Amino acid sequence: MSPTTRIHTTIAVLGAGRVGSNLATGLSGAGHRIVLGVRQPDVTRGQWAGSPVTVTDTAAAITAAELVINATPGDTTLERLSVLRDALAGRVLLDVANATTRTPDGMPGGLLYEGSSLGAQLQAALPHTRVVKSLNTMLFSVMTSPAALAAAPTAFLSGDDITAKTLVRDVLHSLGWADRWLVDLGPISTARGPEAMALMVPALLGAFGFTPFALSVAR
Ligand SMILES: NC(=O)c1ccc[n+]([C@@H]2O[C@H](COP(=O)([O-])OP(=O)(O)OC[C@H]3O[C@@H](n4cnc5c(N)ncnc54)[C@H](OP(=O)(O)O)[C@@H]3O)[C@@H](O)[C@H]2O)c1
Repeated sequence: MSPTTRIHTTIAVLGAGRVGSNLATGLSGAGHRIVLGVRQPDVTRGQWAGSPVTVTDTAAAITAAELVINATPGDTTLERLSVLRDALAGRVLLDVANATTRTPDGMPGGLLYEGSSLGAQLQAALPHTRVVKSLNTMLFSVMTSPAALAAAPTAFLSGDDITAKTLVRDVLHSLGWADRWLVDLGPISTARGPEAMALMVPALLGAFGFTPFALSVAR
């Protein structure tokens, strides 16, 4: 599909934290139907200040969607999504999470899946789900406003299924990502590279402060 073609997909966003709220609002603004899957729907509904979305529990959100975005803590994602294997079967799972251990101040310490990645672990645990890893190498605000940075950001894509990556590409286009900013790294095994970027986050925040940033490949 051309980068300028608009697609409208039903998307489940799991987690209503910084990433989930920002993506739900941005994707809703881009014309997608958003179903927010959260732990306490009544509480989230009462607090929600973003674009109009349907708020429900995690399992119901997955059932309603073609594309599911994991925006929940990466260190517990594998356990939580593995038990939802049947509900996730047949769906594309866009995983934006970083799975790290934490330092006492809550910052990423080390990689939870050394030599592998959360993306690859999810694909192994969910054989009937097509997992795509992307958007984990930037601050959350850049995911929906890529053109706001002074230099063009890169969004890496890792995944075994080309159709699933095409769907994710189309959704990224709808958020303002130019096609030349998207880099298909290959199969889901390649997600270990971008996921390791999480180790740089504390130092980057120390260098720049809490300002929007993204990894970018110059060529
Ligand atoms: N922050 C960033 O700039 C950024 C950038 C790239 C990647 N990421 C990754 O994106 C993911 C989300 O990051 P975030 O900054 O949005 O985190 P966050 O603000 O802490 O939000 C995470 C959300 O996940 C949901 N959740 C579901 N199960 C949970 C559990 N067992 N414990 C805690 N929360 C649970 C919660 O929403 P409900 O209570 O509503 O269910 C919570 O609000 C993480 O994996 C992170 O590594 C973050």
